[in-house]
Amino acid sequence: MSPAAPIRWPAEAIWEAVAPVLPGFTVEVLPTVDSTNTELMRRFRAAGPAAAEPVLLVAEQQSAGRGRMGRAWQSRAGDSLTFSLGMALQPADWSGLSLAVGISIAESLQPALPAAGQPRIRLKWPNDLWLADARDERKLAGILVETASWGELRYVVIGVGINVRALTLDPTPVAAGQAAALAPAALQDILPGVDVAQALALVAAPLVQAVQAFGLFGFAPFQARFAARDALAGRAVQLSDGTEGMAHGVGENGALLVHTAAGMKEITSSEVSVRPLARQASPGSARPC
Ligand code: BTN
Repeated sequence: MSPAAPIRWPAEAIWEAVAPVLPGFTVEVLPTVDSTNTELMRRFRAAGPAAAEPVLLVAEQQSAGRGRMGRAWQSRAGDSLTFSLGMALQPADWSGLSLAVGISIAESLQPALPAAGQPRIRLKWPNDLWLADARDERKLAGILVETASWGELRYVVIGVGINVRALTLDPTPVAAGQAAALAPAALQDILPGVDVAQALALVAAPLVQAVQAFGLFGFAPFQARFAARDALAGRAVQLSDGTEGMAHGVGENGALLVHTAAGMKEITSSEVSVRPLARQASPGSARPC
């Protein structure tokens, strides 16, 4: 088998678009690293302010990609886009940052909402992008936001993983009585022929802009945009503590509003996982995530 052609990353074009609005910004591409989030956190913890310049770190391959709640994030060179944006940020309120990131990525990949029944990128609170159509909904991308402090300085690392080409992942063990996972969605399902470099070119500069806007204005200006793609709104959901209720969108602070038997609950902890209970189109669809 011939070796894969080198990926032509749009590093310079991204730098040209971003550096004027974000001084000190750099783009770095690594052939392999354990995890782009881990790498940026390691640099910041070792050097503090000296390592807090804004950077977009792209990895062609991650050997220990991480997801939320201690899960692993699987990816494959050329098929998956994996990168992290690290920068100092001082929002008055951090809540809703991962939602703002999800909105930016979704709108960059699919600027206009397609007609009903067509595959649509939806946002599953707090940090997943799903590709949903009339039949099912499958995970397209995930976001992992981590922060660290050095004195007064707050540093954020925003990790994004997007399945660009169809992936066959190592099977996740399935608990008794639970449906097996569907294969993840791929960006090529809606943008045929797109590659990882083109996907990065679509999302990178708008993401920086969204994070800067969040730093200034918080989540409130993103609330309506989230609602337009909210995957859970109006659906029966179950929280990881077993509580069941009906999802009612998100508040001005990005909290998930769930109407339960005990009244309206505001879910703010990213450590709470939420899964929809309805819309099991076929056996084997929608696993908890
Ligand atoms: C999730 O869905 O649980 C979040 C997945 C986040 C994956 C990305 S890939 C780039 C960055 N590096 C990591 O190790 N994780 C994030």
